[in-house]
Amino acid sequence: MELRHLRYFVAVVEAQSFTKAAEKLFIAQPPLSRQIQNLEQELGAPLFERGSRPLRTTAVGHFFYQQALKLLSNAEEIKLITQRAGMTERTIQLGYSSSLLCGLLPRIVCLFRQQHPNLNIKLLELNGMAQIQALKEGRVDVCFGRVRISDPAVKRVQLREERLMAAVHSSHPFANQRRPISLAELNDEQIFSYPSQAGPGYAVQVKSLFLEYGLEPKRFAVLDCLQQSLGMVAAGEGICIVPESVKMMQFRHVNYLPLADSAAVSPIYLIVRNDDEGQYTRPLFDCVYQVYDLEAIEYDRRVF
Ligand code: BEZ
Repeated sequence: MELRHLRYFVAVVEAQSFTKAAEKLFIAQPPLSRQIQNLEQELGAPLFERGSRPLRTTAVGHFFYQQALKLLSNAEEIKLITQRAGMTERTIQLGYSSSLLCGLLPRIVCLFRQQHPNLNIKLLELNGMAQIQALKEGRVDVCFGRVRISDPAVKRVQLREERLMAAVHSSHPFANQRRPISLAELNDEQIFSYPSQAGPGYAVQVKSLFLEYGLEPKRFAVLDCLQQSLGMVAAGEGICIVPESVKMMQFRHVNYLPLADSAAVSPIYLIVRNDDEGQYTRPLFDCVYQVYDLEAIEYDRRVF
């Protein structure tokens, strides 16, 4: 016996006629009659009084009708509950580099949440190689990062390049300069960078930037995280090169100064697995582009 048989039986009982029930069910009458006969054979009892007009159920038929209604209603309930559970359990996991929380990431997540209210959005702070590793292991679906890492398992979009700034203590001689500072002027400073992890990361990017201008900072310390580096700047222990959006992090006695050098930029990448088939990847990309459009920020959509 299948749910289909119960539906047919209920339709016949309620229409009190095989012909009317067949019309309602959009099937021909002979197969409907056959299905009811099969049901009667399986149950070993007649469900309808033969020859009654309008069609009436037997006592067994009436009992079976009440049970069938309960079962069909349960089945519908199970379907709805499962559909609802399925909706909330759909999850997208996003990896992000710490400084991106100061930029457009919160706005992107907020808009994406509005567009997908039943989606579970999980955020995981990951930097550099850890993003690629997490993508490969399926721990995250999409990453927003700053480091260009080529790996056959992933593809990426360089969304834009963000200007870099120098975070300096308010007592620093440069702190109240009205002109942009050059990297050459910062070369002899104690420089703090982050994060302290193996492999290519933001700190390597900053060091390479000095090298690009033939400079090599002698005092370059890599700390655990962005907040720690800015804390050291606030303590007057040194300076830190940060993406422009970080200036929204207001530490007492930390001033943010523009850098003069044209190469002083940090890229922002959107990275996904090469074989990505995530249902929410494309909508997330579109949401990112929508936020850029709303903010009137130029960006690139090319995938590498
Ligand atoms: C941005 O600031 O441009 C950005 C931050 C996170 C994700 C995507 C873009």
